[in-house]
Amino acid sequence: MKKHIWLKWFTGFATLALVMALAFPVSAKTWKIAVGDSGGSPQEQTGLKFAEVLEKETKGKYKATLFLNGQLGSEQDTVNDCAMGTLDFSLLAINNVTPFSPTVGSLSLPYVIQSLDEAVKITQGDIGKELTENTIRDAGVRIIAWTYTGFRVLTNSKKPVKTLDDLKGLVIRVPKNAIMIDTYKSWGINPTPMAWSETFTALQQKVVDGQDNPYMTVYAMKFYEIQKYVTPIRYIFSLEPLIISEELFQSQTPEMQAVILKAGKEATRHSANFLRESEANIKKELIANGMEINEPANGEKEWIEKATTAVWPKYYDSIGGKDKLEKILKTLGRSL
Ligand code: MLT
Repeated sequence: MKKHIWLKWFTGFATLALVMALAFPVSAKTWKIAVGDSGGSPQEQTGLKFAEVLEKETKGKYKATLFLNGQLGSEQDTVNDCAMGTLDFSLLAINNVTPFSPTVGSLSLPYVIQSLDEAVKITQGDIGKELTENTIRDAGVRIIAWTYTGFRVLTNSKKPVKTLDDLKGLVIRVPKNAIMIDTYKSWGINPTPMAWSETFTALQQKVVDGQDNPYMTVYAMKFYEIQKYVTPIRYIFSLEPLIISEELFQSQTPEMQAVILKAGKEATRHSANFLRESEANIKKELIANGMEINEPANGEKEWIEKATTAVWPKYYDSIGGKDKLEKILKTLGRSL
């Protein structure tokens, strides 16, 4: 009888060990995460939290290493690399995913998302789910976490900017993203599309005068060394997803897929907290480092009117129809 119990225990243990061995291999596996931004950035925070949870949940069998500052290529190139399965993960701005999956452009339409709470509501609800499905279908990558980085503020090295008239004469770098290019055109200037990985040098060498990115990114990238003036416009609340190669995701066991998704959820939660806790101090740091902040005149009225009138209708088709924008706005308690 006793022998029988021991045999049962042994069989149970052996089965569990086999399941664990199949789910999590014996030798540690290290995945690569491309990161567009530098150390100290919200992107890095998301990546570190993801790696920490991944390692903990797999008892060290899986690890992830971050390659900061675009070391593994421009953000847009990393989407292709993940799609082809030559890169495991990438952390990048959503505007650099849009060229490969146009419906996520709905998240970069000017003046749609107006706070961190709204960003969380959209990305964590049905709309976020649908957009994630679309990136798998269109781009071969799956969004598993969101970085919340704050509003993209305008910076430049030449003069204070408060009105659209002040923008005239400035050469502003934008990502290679049609919605953002058109937004600046609606404001009366022709911006310069450029990869993120080339932006610091272009600003430093005065090939361009300015750019826009969140306070957190401006600080992490040390733009205060080469840019003086900040205009806190609120046209895009920056969302920076962690994407995984869908090929890699599908090659995992269901147990590992669940771990990856869990680590992504925890990284997303961490990112929202990090932004809440840090943004106000970062803004102070930028001022302490010599930056001058000039609020847009008249509550940004002319910026909002020009951008929403010219840009929204132009992108109804590419985001999947006017009703997609209507749905987002309705979820946020607004209407078209
Ligand atoms: C860009 O401006 O291309 C991106 O926002 C950069 C980033 O990932 O922070």
